Amino acid sequence: TSNSFHISPLEPHGTTESYVNLTRRARAVQDRVRRPLTLAEKILYAHLAKPDQELERGKSHLSLLPKMQMPNSPSFNSYPLPSRTSASPRQYTRTTLSLHDTVPQRIWTEAERVNKEVYAFLKSASDKYGIAYWKPGAGILHQIIFERYAYPGGFMIGTDSHTPNAAGLGMLAIGCGGMEGVDVMAGAAYEVMHPKIIGVHLKGKLNGWASAKDVILKLASILTVKGATSHIIEYHGTGVASLSATGMATIGNMGAEVGATSSVFPYTPSMGEYLRLTGREGIAKAAEGEGEWYLKSDEGVEYDRHIEIDLSTLEPHVNGPFTPDLSHAISQLSRNTSANPSWPSDLSAALIGSCTNSSYEDFHRSASLIKQASSAGLKPKIPFLVAPGSEEIRATLERDGILDVFTEEAGGKLLANACGACVGQWERDDMVQGEKNSIVSSFNRNFSGRQDGNRGTHSFVSNPEIVTAMAYGASLHFNPLTDNLPLPNGETFRFSPPTGDVWPQGGYERTLEHYQAPRDDGSDVELELNPKSERIQLIRAFAGWNGKDRQEVEMLVKVKGKCTTDHISAAGPWYKYRGHLENISGKPSQENLLIGAVNAENDKVNLVRNRMTGEYDTVPSVAKSYRDAGRKWIIIGGDNYGEGSSREVAAMSPRYMGCFAVIAKSMARLHETNLKKQGVLPLFIDAADHEKIQGSETMEIQNIAGLQPGSQLTLRLCGKDRSTEGIRIPLRHSMTAREIGWFKAGSALNVLRNSTGA
Ligand code: F3S
Repeated sequence: TSNSFHISPLEPHGTTESYVNLTRRARAVQDRVRRPLTLAEKILYAHLAKPDQELERGKSHLSLLPKMQMPNSPSFNSYPLPSRTSASPRQYTRTTLSLHDTVPQRIWTEAERVNKEVYAFLKSASDKYGIAYWKPGAGILHQIIFERYAYPGGFMIGTDSHTPNAAGLGMLAIGCGGMEGVDVMAGAAYEVMHPKIIGVHLKGKLNGWASAKDVILKLASILTVKGATSHIIEYHGTGVASLSATGMATIGNMGAEVGATSSVFPYTPSMGEYLRLTGREGIAKAAEGEGEWYLKSDEGVEYDRHIEIDLSTLEPHVNGPFTPDLSHAISQLSRNTSANPSWPSDLSAALIGSCTNSSYEDFHRSASLIKQASSAGLKPKIPFLVAPGSEEIRATLERDGILDVFTEEAGGKLLANACGACVGQWERDDMVQGEKNSIVSSFNRNFSGRQDGNRGTHSFVSNPEIVTAMAYGASLHFNPLTDNLPLPNGETFRFSPPTGDVWPQGGYERTLEHYQAPRDDGSDVELELNPKSERIQLIRAFAGWNGKDRQEVEMLVKVKGKCTTDHISAAGPWYKYRGHLENISGKPSQENLLIGAVNAENDKVNLVRNRMTGEYDTVPSVAKSYRDAGRKWIIIGGDNYGEGSSREVAAMSPRYMGCFAVIAKSMARLHETNLKKQGVLPLFIDAADHEKIQGSETMEIQNIAGLQPGSQLTLRLCGKDRSTEGIRIPLRHSMTAREIGWFKAGSALNVLRNSTGA
């Protein structure tokens, strides 16, 4: 028999494909390529838009049909898109929207007041286009997808880099930009370079203080933040079955921190347990029966790179500051802290939760440590903040008395079920801007200013149990595995390893308080959008290419060191304007363009020379002055330019302000795609040529008319006198014919608009 199931039992439309069909399609491709298939390949090949397409890892462009699309609120809230298409999105994909990151850390009534017009717009858009809508308060979308929608062997995209959180249920989930999500909603295929595949062999079994988080924190030290770019990480080996489904979600989630396109795990009994606990027994049964071949890799597969991790000897890790790949085994952290005197060794806050670590297991194990400490009469020495990933987990923890352990016994502060402090919406009042301090969290990202907007904050990430224990030690020199804490009575206390249940014994609190089912017919719904809104603005078409072969450009900035999407378009107070391109890009009080990037010319942040006047000014002011003078400009980036989130405004804002090209040594996949979609040229330069660019030269990009897949462009550098020949630097690109079409039309949205005649 072959079964398909409702992707979510809540919603009658949107069904999984039967494992019989998925197997048949993957096997048909296997017959063609005649070799064993990795799990990632099976899932990709079962979702090909055209079964006969070329399938060379690292070379071919895949055209894929996701079963599900998940827009997050900021990536979605300014696209007019589905209204511009002729097709109903429901025909193609199951789409779910959660308002996880428009919510500050405060209480809901306040969030609803502050974000009223954003919520009204998103609700009306959900009604109009048949989208399941999870209101503010429901939680972080990755958690909701995991709790309600993800299923083994499925394929989805989501407009957020941590979408691969769904790997915990064996789903192949890829993070993409907002425009790509909109394309898929409108029925287009999702296109991506065929990822290479890194095999990670897990052996042994976690024990003591080590948790699933430590697998990815360790892997980050091996791969670095760009080591898995354009790769899928495929976990295998006997150690996989010892991990919980929620633990695997944590590992999949943080694959984004090593640049991975996605991560996959074979089906395990723990996935079956979680599916059964959350009302999806039919899917579990089918996965265990007819899905058997499809949901694991074949014997004898070849990986492009292979790494082994022994879970039995894995130590807890603490990674940071400022980058998630600066990894310290807990036994080395104190020594490494001493070796880096610029890091404040005292901790000023500890935070647990977020989309990365909000499982029952995470909270239950952390609570076991608090109970030990309270029995000894200890309280955390620093503010301890708890951010549950969803209302479901919050309500379950409350029912089981675990929330009280955090708030009553530990005096912790409960934050909203939302991104909040993870994305700069931490209303922190104990530090002034620039004040140096260190924090530790169970989150995934720790770029400069990420949590509290303060560039003086040295942020470290670890597993939730270590974070909890460190709230008591309050120092980077404290190793909870080996160090004692003094007690008031003169004795000492040492933590025993944490313990806890993987699943709640009474099941989960499956609350639907914040859920609104998709409408069957939204044709009569009007989008709620105030044209005078300061928060939401429909995107206006960017101008297309002017048809000229050469383009004179000004260099806005040559950035030095790390330049993440947080450096390009910072989280924090600007965040609320992300649905309003004009306000986030150009409104004087909101200026947010590249204000975190270090200028290689003077080592300063947000201070660049205006090449028309010779005066120094802020980056947004100089960009604006070029734009107002009709001058195009470029950014010169270094390695892994644009790493971090799928934040599309990091491509849209530069475009809006007149950016013509970003020229970098290497670039993060999501950001490169976002630039292409917005009509900005992402171009690559060799390291030796990169050195030649001083910034004082006159610059011109040439060979634009000959742009085609594999072609080269040229950057010509010359003195003020443009008649001199100057230096010619070759520039590479990775654009397909379709992507070149986006550049010529001005953006991918323009192409879609033209094709639908809207
Ligand atoms: Fe939100 Fe932070 Fe996760 S911004 S989606 S909690 S990475």
